Amino acid sequence: MEVLRIAGQQRLEGETSLGGAKNAVLPIMAACLLIDGEIILHNVPALTDVLGMRRILELFHCSVSTDSDTLVISTKGICPGELPDELMKSMRASNLIWGPCLGRFGKSDIPLPGGCPIGVRPMDIHIKGMKALGAMVEEHHGHIISDGRHMRGTEIYLDFPSVGATENLVMAAVKTPGVTVFRNVAKEPEVVDLCCFLKEAGAKINGIGTDTLRVEGVKSLHSLEYTVIPDRIVAGTILLAAAMTRGDVTITNVIPEHLEALLAKMAEAGITVEREHSSLRVHHVGAIGPVDLKTLPYPGFPTDIQPQFMTVLSVAQGTSVICESIFENRYQHCDELRRMGADIKVDGRTAIIQGSDHLDGAMVDATDLRGGAALLMAGMAAHGETLLGNICHIDRGYCHIEKLFCHLGADIRRVLV
Ligand code: EPZ
Repeated sequence: MEVLRIAGQQRLEGETSLGGAKNAVLPIMAACLLIDGEIILHNVPALTDVLGMRRILELFHCSVSTDSDTLVISTKGICPGELPDELMKSMRASNLIWGPCLGRFGKSDIPLPGGCPIGVRPMDIHIKGMKALGAMVEEHHGHIISDGRHMRGTEIYLDFPSVGATENLVMAAVKTPGVTVFRNVAKEPEVVDLCCFLKEAGAKINGIGTDTLRVEGVKSLHSLEYTVIPDRIVAGTILLAAAMTRGDVTITNVIPEHLEALLAKMAEAGITVEREHSSLRVHHVGAIGPVDLKTLPYPGFPTDIQPQFMTVLSVAQGTSVICESIFENRYQHCDELRRMGADIKVDGRTAIIQGSDHLDGAMVDATDLRGGAALLMAGMAAHGETLLGNICHIDRGYCHIEKLFCHLGADIRRVLV
């Protein structure tokens, strides 16, 4: 079994750049099913979830080739394919092919997705929206079977600004005859990136970046070349790791506007972040103060950075309170942090973190993608060595995470035990 052996009391120093955003490239790859011709995608990160989505496209007889961080996809031979449940259950993003399949084939048979065990993660908002568009939807033996041949434009209000539901429904609507108005949609930068990608392929979408999208159906979408936005969640992880190790790290190709909520909370904790047009630098030597935060849909504090921020607060001077309002089970990393000496009490969606002087290295296991990244951060700052298992979770969202941090001075080795 592969584990990461992490030396403690490391100080991160230097400059790094970001790969493309996992949560943008996955819906964009799914959207390629809607496009006639060749799509060239740049800034594609080498992640296991990207490999999973590539496999799905190939099962629909698309040809996919890679050259460094560029993906070339051709839909010339596209036709319906059989999707193995194992593959679809390996990640949450597999559900994002539902909308494109309806737009491409008029019907779909999608095994229910998997992904991080951070909550029940139902599909009710997706299903309600597809039915509002006029699709026939049935659930059988863990599959969603739908017929979208009679879909028509309509008005849809999302009960919650779900990222995946917004993405699936927009992809279903871009080739649906008529005009569809979506209200209360998600505005995450990754949703915006998908909409910009579709618009460059010829889709008619207005209101991108707002909570109301107006989509006018078109007959076809054409070839394009597109560069995926940098990964703001990886950026936040690096910034917080730099602060926790009292380091000096600059990220060169970040979009600071995507991280306003995090930067505000870091400032509140006394962590100074120097900001240029497309770079952020943390050079932190002082104490870290306590902070209260609540995770919210964008532009609120991102749930995907909650575990990492909690880790920083576990060595802050004082008591902090976190409310995780997005997912009902996103505190699994707390048990593992406690094994390292963190003082965290969880009551439902609220966590109370009493800052300790330091954490101690221990044997811990990643419980999910971002929780795993948080434990790696803890290991770099802790006194003594940490062994981190279940790192397959981390590889889904971070490209060779040990290389990323070793480049900045950390001592982390991927070993077989
Ligand atoms: C996306 O998941 C991201 N994944 C998640 O990132 C991210 O945490 C999440 O958005 C929120 O920002 C990808 O983009 C691949 P949601 P998604 O639908 O689309 C409830 C990571 O670490 N909900 O916005 O699944 C749901 O249960 C991952 O990179 C319904 O109730 O998130 C959750 O409580 C983790 N019914 C809340 O909405 C639905 O039909 C937010 O879910 C859909 C969602």
